[in-house]
Order: sequence, then structure tokens, then C-alpha cells
Amino acid sequence: MSHQEWSGEAKFTIDDKEVIGYKGETILEVARREGINIPALCHHEALEPYAVCRLCLVEVTADKRTRLVTSCIYEVAPDIEVKTSTEKVTRNRKAVLELLLARAPDAPVIRKLAKEYGIERSRYPLIKNDNCILCGLCVRACNEIIGANAIGFIDRGTERHVGPPIERLSERCIGCGTCVYICPTAAITLADVSKPMPGVHAHPHDYEAP
Ligand code: SF4
Ligand code: FES
Repeated sequence: MSHQEWSGEAKFTIDDKEVIGYKGETILEVARREGINIPALCHHEALEPYAVCRLCLVEVTADKRTRLVTSCIYEVAPDIEVKTSTEKVTRNRKAVLELLLARAPDAPVIRKLAKEYGIERSRYPLIKNDNCILCGLCVRACNEIIGANAIGFIDRGTERHVGPPIERLSERCIGCGTCVYICPTAAITLADVSKPMPGVHAHPHDYEAP
């Protein structure tokens, strides 16, 4: 059956377990419902998929072709075979983790995953030490859930980071703390700067960008 032509339920397998998914669901969503662990740091069920951390890689065989896909955006279809921990998946996930370690070497979630995958240190030089892995959860939550648009990505390449527009204290920030709550690496702190600091004219809820 062509994967474009089905509707309703799709029967398929994840790690040889027979599962059911529904049109429009992703592999990651079905895996989570089934209690199958796939690491995923840039995904949140309340937000549009972003697919940047690449930790959620799995191997999918569909129409006799096997390839690596990001499970947070790959939609299920009848008869696909999903493998979450093949040698190829593990090798690629380890490489991703080494890159994340170079960005956030002190983040507990990254250190824990690295340990699980037997990585003691990254072969890559330290890129930044602000614990931010650029997953975009904070930016998307501020935009899509709160509607404040108080923070965004700034700069490119190794200088890319999250902050308020033009690096000024953001008048749009309502101090809700959603970005702090949703950040997987604890890279954000919310400071109450209602008490004036010398030389700083701050919004009552100053956002401290990583
Ligand atoms: S500050 Fe946290 S939530 Fe925001 S992009 Fe960085 S790691 Fe993701
Ligand atoms: S959770 Fe899929 S790429 Fe991040």
C-alpha cells in the first residue's frame, strides 16, 4: 500500500513490537505512548516540531528501503519497521551527544545521556559553555504558547544564542517563567530585578539569556 493512501490506523513495529499509530502521528509520539524510550530534547507535545537536536534518530524500513530519520517528525505509516537502537542509530546518536557535550558540558541531562552511551568526553572543542543546546523550546514556547515573542535566536554559527530582541531587556517579557520551566538543560534563569541596580534600567522581569 502506498503510504499516501491510507487512513485510520497503521499497524507497524517498533523494535519488533507490534504497535498502532494514527494518521498524522509521529514515530516518537507512538513510541512514548508505548513506553519505548527514544531520547528527544527539542520536542514538546504542546509545540510545533523543530527537529534540531537529532537525538531522536531511529532507523525506519519502508518500501524495502532503510534509512535514518528523526522520529519526532517522521509520520507513521502501515507496515513500516522502526528500530530504535541499531548499531547505526547508536553510532550516530553518540556523535550527536558529543556535539551537544561541546555545547553544554555541564548540563545534567546531557551528562546523563553521555554516560548512558559510554561517552566520557567530547572529541570536539568546547563551543560555548552556557548550557544552551539551541533546541529552541524556550523561543517556541514564548511564541506559540505565551504569545509574547520576548526572546529569539541571535547571531549565527558558534555565536548563535538565545536572547531578547537586539539584546536589550525585553519589554515583552511578562515574567511567566515558561522558558525556564521548559528548558531541558537548565540554561535559563529568571531574575527579579524590581530593585534597581546601579546603571541598569530594567524591566521588572529581566530575562537572563544564556
Ligand atoms: S535556553 Fe534552553 S530551551 Fe532555550 S534554546 Fe537553549 S537549551 Fe533550548
Ligand atoms: S527530538 Fe527529534 S530532533 Fe530533537
